[in-house]
Amino acid sequence: MDNAIVVSLIKLEHSAVSIGDSTRFPTYGTNELQWKLDGSDKWTSGFYPGCLWYACELSGNPQFERWARMWTASIENEKYNTETHDLGFRFICTFGNGLPFVNDSENSRYKEILLTAASTLSRRYNEKVGCLSSNWDAVLIRNSFPVVIDIMANLNLLFWAAENGAPAYLSEYALTHARTTCRDFVRPDGSTYHIVRYNKNTGTIINKGTLQGAGDETTWSRGHAWMVYGLVETYAYSNDSDILKYTLQMTDYFIAHLPADHVSAWDFDSDKNYRDVSATAIVCLALFKLASTLDGRDVKMKYQSEAEAMLAALCQPPCFIESTASNCILDHSVHYLPINSNVDVPAIFADYYLLEAIVRYKKLVIDE
Ligand code: GLY
Repeated sequence: MDNAIVVSLIKLEHSAVSIGDSTRFPTYGTNELQWKLDGSDKWTSGFYPGCLWYACELSGNPQFERWARMWTASIENEKYNTETHDLGFRFICTFGNGLPFVNDSENSRYKEILLTAASTLSRRYNEKVGCLSSNWDAVLIRNSFPVVIDIMANLNLLFWAAENGAPAYLSEYALTHARTTCRDFVRPDGSTYHIVRYNKNTGTIINKGTLQGAGDETTWSRGHAWMVYGLVETYAYSNDSDILKYTLQMTDYFIAHLPADHVSAWDFDSDKNYRDVSATAIVCLALFKLASTLDGRDVKMKYQSEAEAMLAALCQPPCFIESTASNCILDHSVHYLPINSNVDVPAIFADYYLLEAIVRYKKLVIDE
């Protein structure tokens, strides 16, 4: 892991210098392992500034703090963006991660920005359904209110806001969204759907299936990973025993479906033989967090040792890109295989969750 940290910091320094323009954000890697760049309006935009905040934490180098602030500042205009459910990704990774580093007056400003983004996200909530809506669907169905499992990973923005001056109903929305997702997305064997479409007027289910997975009855591994991450965060904020039950069930399902090398298939039920390193990175981080939240040595150690095995796999080839000729850290993620979008390439969110996992591992295991 020490080598992975050193190499990752070199890559992040190279990328910040070579991109130069803090309104441009890495998204996915090319086949030549070079970053493609896009604007702050893409769902992935918060992850690169988030990587810079973790680089700052891992290195103590003030240059990373300057870069982290610059790229974070370019996200602020997204706080009024009502077109997306991904405001948690954009704001927790950026302004949220920056809070411990900034002085008192900046701290207040960062908090105001987070609160505004949370208020914007909360407008997606529908009382009849008990969920926030997805900003997209591949099909148009009359009165449909689509919900994707990915939204689970954005609930922490609402929980954080309710604990930091926003109205309490924001955390009620988040907890109800999580409960509805557990009720409707989880199959009896612990596998998950990617999308559930509800009637927006009555809250009844129209249908269930997938967008990014192999089929309507399969389990798309990154969707399942977002569920694990979202439940771990929801449990940390709510201490709700039912949420814990689902957290452990979803986690155990993910672990049971990993191959011997701990690197997740892109979909647990597909015969197309791609991995999705990002799914393992997300769950690895989530399990370090879960291990620090749970009471009971045996259960803590169970999830901590699973997370350590995942981290070891992520920190070496073929997941880890050792060459500093590439600024991408992890290879072999999949964005959206059914439309052949960014298949088997680096993805900035994989790098982000790896770095967060390393930071949490150091706090949990080394600094303890
Ligand atoms: N939230 C979009 C994705 O995971 O691809």
